Amino acid sequence: MRTQVAIIGAGPAGMLLSHLLAAEGIDTVIVEARSEEYVLGRIRAGILEHGSVELLRAAGLGSRLDAEGLPHRGIHLQFPRERHHLDFIDLIGRGVWVYGQTEVQKDLVAARSAAGQSIYYEARDLEISDVETDRPSLTFVGSDGRRQTVVADAVVGCDGSFGPSRAVIPDSAKQTWHRTYPFSWLGVLADVAPSTDELIYAWHPDGFAMHSMRSPSVSRLYLQVDNGTDIDDWSHQRIWDALAARLGDGQDGWTLTPGPITEASVLPMRSYVQTPMRHGRLFLAGDSAHIVPPTGAKGLNLAIADVALLAPALVSLVRDDDSRSADTYSDDALRRVWRCTHFSWWMTSMLHTSGDPFDDQLQLSQLRWVCSSEAGATGLAENYAGLPIPSGSTRF
Ligand code: FAD
Ligand code: DHB
Repeated sequence: MRTQVAIIGAGPAGMLLSHLLAAEGIDTVIVEARSEEYVLGRIRAGILEHGSVELLRAAGLGSRLDAEGLPHRGIHLQFPRERHHLDFIDLIGRGVWVYGQTEVQKDLVAARSAAGQSIYYEARDLEISDVETDRPSLTFVGSDGRRQTVVADAVVGCDGSFGPSRAVIPDSAKQTWHRTYPFSWLGVLADVAPSTDELIYAWHPDGFAMHSMRSPSVSRLYLQVDNGTDIDDWSHQRIWDALAARLGDGQDGWTLTPGPITEASVLPMRSYVQTPMRHGRLFLAGDSAHIVPPTGAKGLNLAIADVALLAPALVSLVRDDDSRSADTYSDDALRRVWRCTHFSWWMTSMLHTSGDPFDDQLQLSQLRWVCSSEAGATGLAENYAGLPIPSGSTRF
C-alpha cells in the first residue's frame, strides 16, 4: 500500500492530523492497535483551551462543540475557608470550554468516516522501518490476520505514551526527561448535575480535590490519593465523603450533591518529554513525545497544538518538497511543550499536599498571592486558557 503520510494511533492526535491533512489534499493511512469502540469509549480529558476550540471550528469540527460544549469564563481556586473565582475573560480576554475528549473523538471519527478514511483498527505486531530514508514504512497484521505494508513519504507516531514509535529514535539521537509524582488521582464520573457553575480546584490538608463536569447532568470529580491506591478500597460512599469534606471545607452554605458513580479509576501522575520530536521521516506528536500531569488540563490541548504545527509542515514536505517547516517542527513544538510541562508542574505543586507542614505554608501563600494579585491571576489565566495555536512564530 502506498500513502503520503502513515499515522500510527487513532487517538485525538492521529485523527486530527489525518483530518487536517485531508483538507489539504494529502492522503493518509491510520493504523490503530485497539478497536474503534475502545478508542471511542476512553474517558480522559475534559477541558479545551480557547485556541483548541478555534482550531476545531476552523477545521469544520465545531458544530456539536458549539451546541453541546460549555463555555467557562474561568475557574474557582479554593483553600480552607476561601474560594476565589478567577475570571479569565476579564483577565486576558479568553476562556476555556468543557467538552470531553470522548466527544472530540466522536466528532473526529464521524468526520473521517464520512470522508472514507482508511483506518486499520486492531492492528498487531507493528514494525516501523526505513525512517532515515525518504520512503519510511509500517508493517502490521490487520484484524483479518493479513500482514500489510504501508510505504509513505512520512510516518507520524501519534501512538500515545505506550506506543512503539518514540523507541525507534536511536538513543544516540535523543534525550528524555522524567518526573514521577508521589501521588495519584482517583477520578470518578457521576450521573449527577454539577454542584458548581465552573471547575473548582481545591487545596485541602487531606489532599487535592477537583470538581469538573462533562455536561449539565454529568459530573467529573478527582481526589488526590497515595500511589498504589487500590480502587476497591474506596467505596462510593467513601469517595463522596472525601469529596464533600475537601470541596466543602469552610464553604458556608455550599453542598456537594452526590449521585450514581458510573466509572472510577486511579491515574498515576507523571511527566515525560522526549526530544527531538522528529528523526528523519519519523515525526512524533501528542503523548508519544510528552506527558504532563493532568492538573491544568494540558495533555489533550498539547496534542492538538502539536498537530496544528505538524500538518502544514507535512504539507510542505510531501507536496512541495520543502522541508523548512519540517526541520523546525521539533523546536517549535517543544517551546510549547516545555511551557505546558512547567505550568502543569506548577499547578500540581501548588495544589497537592506532601505531608510536610512547611510545604503547606508555601502552597497557601502561593494560592493567596494568585487569588489576590492581578499579576498572579493573569499568569495562571494565560497558561490555563492557553497560548495561541499554532505557536511556530511565538517565542515563549
Ligand atoms: P492517545 O489518546 O493515547 O492515543 C494514542 C493511540 O495510539 C491510542 O489509541 C493507542 O491505542 C494507539 N497505539 C498505541 N500503540 C499502538 C501501536 N503499537 N500500534 C497502533 N496504535 C497504537 N489530559 C487532560 O488534559 N486532562 C485529563 O483529565 C486527562 N485525563 C487522562 C486520563 C488518562 C487515563 C490518560 C491515559 C490520559 C489523560 N489525559 C488527560 C491526557 C490526554 O488524554 C492525552 O494527552 C491525549 O489523549 C493525547 O492524545 P494522543 O492522540 O497523543 O494519545
Ligand atoms: C479535567 C481534568 C483536568 O486534569 C483538569 O485540570 C480539569 C478538568 C476533567 O477531566 O474534566
